[in-house]
Amino acid sequence: MTARFVTFEGGEGAGKSTQLARLADHLRRRGHEVLSTREPGGSPGAEAIRTLIVTGAVDRWDARTEALLVAAARRDHVERTIRPALARGAWVLCDRFFDSTAAYQGSAGGVDPAAIAWLRAFATDGLTPDLTIVVDVPVAVGMARVAARGEGQRQRFELRGAAFHERLRAAFHAIAAAEPERCRVVDGTLPVEQLATTIAVAVDARFPA
Ligand code: TMP
Repeated sequence: MTARFVTFEGGEGAGKSTQLARLADHLRRRGHEVLSTREPGGSPGAEAIRTLIVTGAVDRWDARTEALLVAAARRDHVERTIRPALARGAWVLCDRFFDSTAAYQGSAGGVDPAAIAWLRAFATDGLTPDLTIVVDVPVAVGMARVAARGEGQRQRFELRGAAFHERLRAAFHAIAAAEPERCRVVDGTLPVEQLATTIAVAVDARFPA
């Protein structure tokens, strides 16, 4: 079995998590072992760090501290969860990975791109997704979906203003344009079923049985 590493990226309310679960079902039907995981998180240590990152006041951390926290979580996740799964031949589907750091802490947060690149290398030792699905939705659509989830579940980054989310969206577009071989942008406003089919077809075409 050929191990594959696929990441999902996008702003808040894009529907990544739903689509990741749908792709996992599709791949299991194709007979693959699939590990679904997420960042920040995906290992016990990284989940503990996640709680620090996503809860609390909007200004709890500055962007550099966030970059260090997500990098620490990523290191633990890569070493303890992702690499072992790939080594045994599983497909790993990850909800967010290093492109989120480039977008949230780099482009939207103002951290120097060279520092982001260095942290990426330090945390991952060069582990790069085989494919990254960027789920794109207009900011107003994403924010409306987040609001519909209910006030109690709103987390730190969801509380930021529209300008922050516009910078994020532009950043994900720029990442995809810079690495067209790795990244595929899909329309997150499509009905769930239609988008799931689009993604499954794209993945099957990229990685034939
Ligand atoms: P989620 O929205 O997919 O649950 O992700 C949790 C939050 O963490 C989300 O608001 C984006 C943020 N995040 C970063 O700021 N930098 C990162 O590198 C990652 C992986 C997530």
